[in-house]
Amino acid sequence: MRLAGATTRDAPGMAAVHATSFDGAWGVDEIGALLDGPGGFGLVVRDPETEVIVAFILARAVAGEAEVLTLAVDPPHRRFGVGRALVEAVALNAAAAGARSIFLEVAGDNDAALGLYRAAGFSPVGRRPAYYRRGSGAVDALVLRRDLNSPPG
Ligand SMILES: CC(C)(COP(=O)(O)OP(=O)(O)OC[C@H]1O[C@@H](n2cnc3c(N)ncnc32)[C@H](O)[C@@H]1OP(=O)(O)O)[C@@H](O)C(=O)NCCC(=O)NCCS
Repeated sequence: MRLAGATTRDAPGMAAVHATSFDGAWGVDEIGALLDGPGGFGLVVRDPETEVIVAFILARAVAGEAEVLTLAVDPPHRRFGVGRALVEAVALNAAAAGARSIFLEVAGDNDAALGLYRAAGFSPVGRRPAYYRRGSGAVDALVLRRDLNSPPG
């Protein structure tokens, strides 16, 4: 697997991976605008043989705080440490950009992401009730935070 900084040229590949991982997939233009927006940056992981993007993370670092906007790993490539590698790389990049902490929102029923973020040293700092709409109802968003001055748990 090869990890590299993302440019807007990668937006179509990132959108394709996003669509494998979420209902309400983000479009190419939306991803491109986030990459180009204030403090926006992303990282992609490519299959070294095909060059196809198989995972990515999109983040923003502004005024001493960073935020993970989205993270997705193509299903066949999950549970190989790719998500964790992307989170650690974003934490390094955010710290280098001057961020002292990194935040994200995750659905309270997303066990895989919660497991990953917990392992990567994030802790809950808030809850947004009924934030994500589901066919059968709504799910709270948990707001998680990691201090970038201390190592992951
Ligand atoms: C969440 C996601 C990014 C994890 O990516 P991944 O590459 O499979 O994660 P990793 O292999 O780096 O896993 C790191 C750790 O996270 C936890 N984890 C990952 N997947 C898990 C699962 N399905 N169930 C429980 N814990 C899980 C484990 O602690 C794991 O360590 P281990 O494999 O040594 O047990 C991936 O499942 C995904 O893309 N899901 C859909 C999109 C999504 O939910 N994104 C996050 C939105 S906030």
